Amino acid sequence: MAKQNVYDNQVFFDAFKKIRENETNFNDVIETPIITKMLPDLSGKKVLDIGCGMGQHAKQYADMGAISVLGVDISEKMLAFARENNSAENITFLQLAFEDLEEINDHFDVITSSLAFDYVQDFAELMQKIYALLTNDGKLVFSMSHPISTAYDGVFDRYTRTESGEKLYANLHNYNIEGLRKIKWVVDDYELYHRKVSTLINDMVSTGFIIEECQESNVSKKIRRQYPDKFDGVMHQPDFIFFRCSK
Ligand SMILES: C[S@@+](CC[C@H](N)C(=O)[O-])C[C@H]1O[C@@H](n2cnc3c(N)ncnc32)[C@H](O)[C@@H]1O
Repeated sequence: MAKQNVYDNQVFFDAFKKIRENETNFNDVIETPIITKMLPDLSGKKVLDIGCGMGQHAKQYADMGAISVLGVDISEKMLAFARENNSAENITFLQLAFEDLEEINDHFDVITSSLAFDYVQDFAELMQKIYALLTNDGKLVFSMSHPISTAYDGVFDRYTRTESGEKLYANLHNYNIEGLRKIKWVVDDYELYHRKVSTLINDMVSTGFIIEECQESNVSKKIRRQYPDKFDGVMHQPDFIFFRCSK
């Protein structure tokens, strides 16, 4: 199974770090508030965070009362940052690809993932591996790029604009063609997998998951007004999709 590790490319890592540390990044302004509301009570729970990156979420879950958090990621550079900046006694960071999750010999009450599943080639297989790692009443809560935002070829402008450059509506490219997309984002050949919403849902359901909640990203009018250049596209297309599932 193809695994990619663009986050260990120094140029990409440096650029991503800059984006992630910007105070109005999409993670902190959009993603984190939504996924946080969807989480069950973490007190006393064993949590696995897949694609933990720089460890911000792992630290957050430990602070929310999780008894232990295991953060796994393929990227050495992301894990080194996590260990240095987001460590705690009950957090373990481990280098492991989500294609190899079956190597974990443990079970978790809550499995989370933030914006990492864009990189998995076989989403159905990933769901099955996660299902096997959950306790019987366990929950999976995750976010990933919304299929509307990955229906993009990196060449056309994402938005049709007015003459003055205002975003009028969002454009889609080949929504119904699933698979690998290579686009220009930070590096010239950034790779992610585009899938339809129905594929995500059907892969979860056929694994045995019960989908309890689905959310699509949005920002408040207040934030749109505060940062018009940055968040004015959000009302045209959701960047991220979120699911909470139970076993
Ligand atoms: C957009 S970052 C998100 C990081 C973190 N979850 C956050 O919210 O800030 C995506 C993460 O997925 C990781 N990743 C990509 N492919 C992976 C794979 N095959 N196995 C495990 N992690 C992977 C990357 O290394 C990166 O840390």
